[in-house]
Amino acid sequence: MFRLEARALSFDVGDVRILHPLSLCFRSGELVALLGPSGSGKSTLLTSLIGFRRAKGRVFAFGQDLYRDFEALKIRIGFVPQDDILHPSLTVERTLRYAAALRLPADMPEPYREATVRQVIEEVELGERKNVRVARLSGGQRKRVSLAVELLARPPMLFMDEPTSGLDPALEEKTMSLFRTLTTPDRLTVVTTHVMASLDFVDLAVFIAKGRLVYVGPPTQAADYFGVPDLPSIYRLLSKEDPRSLEQNFERSPLHRSYVADRLAGLDQDPPKAVASSPSSPREEPQASGSASSEAKAKALTPEEELARLKELRRARG
Ligand SMILES: Nc1ncnc2c1ncn2[C@@H]1O[C@H](COP(=O)(O)OP(=O)(O)OP(=O)(O)O)[C@@H](O)[C@H]1O
Ligand SMILES: [Mg+2]
Repeated sequence: MFRLEARALSFDVGDVRILHPLSLCFRSGELVALLGPSGSGKSTLLTSLIGFRRAKGRVFAFGQDLYRDFEALKIRIGFVPQDDILHPSLTVERTLRYAAALRLPADMPEPYREATVRQVIEEVELGERKNVRVARLSGGQRKRVSLAVELLARPPMLFMDEPTSGLDPALEEKTMSLFRTLTTPDRLTVVTTHVMASLDFVDLAVFIAKGRLVYVGPPTQAADYFGVPDLPSIYRLLSKEDPRSLEQNFERSPLHRSYVADRLAGLDQDPPKAVASSPSSPREEPQASGSASSEAKAKALTPEEELARLKELRRARG
């Protein structure tokens, strides 16, 4: 189990403050949605939290200083950017074979590497499309190929920028449900999204307005907190109200104490949340070795065992 902590994170471009100083703490096992109007700073925050963009302030992951130890830690971070960078003429399977050759340890035995490729294709449910060229996939399927590429290294932190943009509502819900499944107790998944319909799957919603942190807490409490009838109304409120007072209100709220301050102070004694209604057990991340902290280590599963576990999980959920 691990935490991702941001302390007094801020980001400026010239004289313009894009992200006002904010602090956050997420825990493994959580699926987090970063929400806010266009241009509010979601991508800036997402990339700053994983060291792909260097903000002011500090970020700690796995008990280490992420900015200082980025080279050593980056193998444990999967990042799917807003625009994919896949080669259009390769098939799904070939894309993953190439990515596996680049990303998996050079001394990994060939059968193990092949099994890993097969497994991630299954995980993102592209088994039936594996021989199709990337150019002929739908937008949602291409996103899932990008996700599969990141899953190869079994990253304990999985960050995705707008993974559901451009998807129809049914597919969007299915994708969020996939993220729920992928968020095992030893993984933290963070996604930015505009879509409010599938927040049921999410543990924590984080709202940003004009670069200010205005809400962290369960999505189910957000509408009540803002005093609006439903989640979509929050967007209207965020573009209308003064972001500074929203930020101040949040800093004074019990939600801030529970979901930010107490966590950062180490006062949240309840164990990190397990995957909702999941019969799965924690699994080992091969790349998660060498951590300075005393993170719990689960038994390592082979790719075949993991695949079997995943299928069992899907069956259990119908
Ligand atoms: N390198 C940069 N130079 C100048 N301005 C920037 C830079 N990066 C981000 N910004 C500005 O910072 C603000 C936040 O941008 P960001 O991309 O983080 O927003 P976002 O919430 O992800 O938006 P969207 O929902 O449209 O993806 C925007 O006003 C953007 O124009
Ligand atoms: Mg963005």
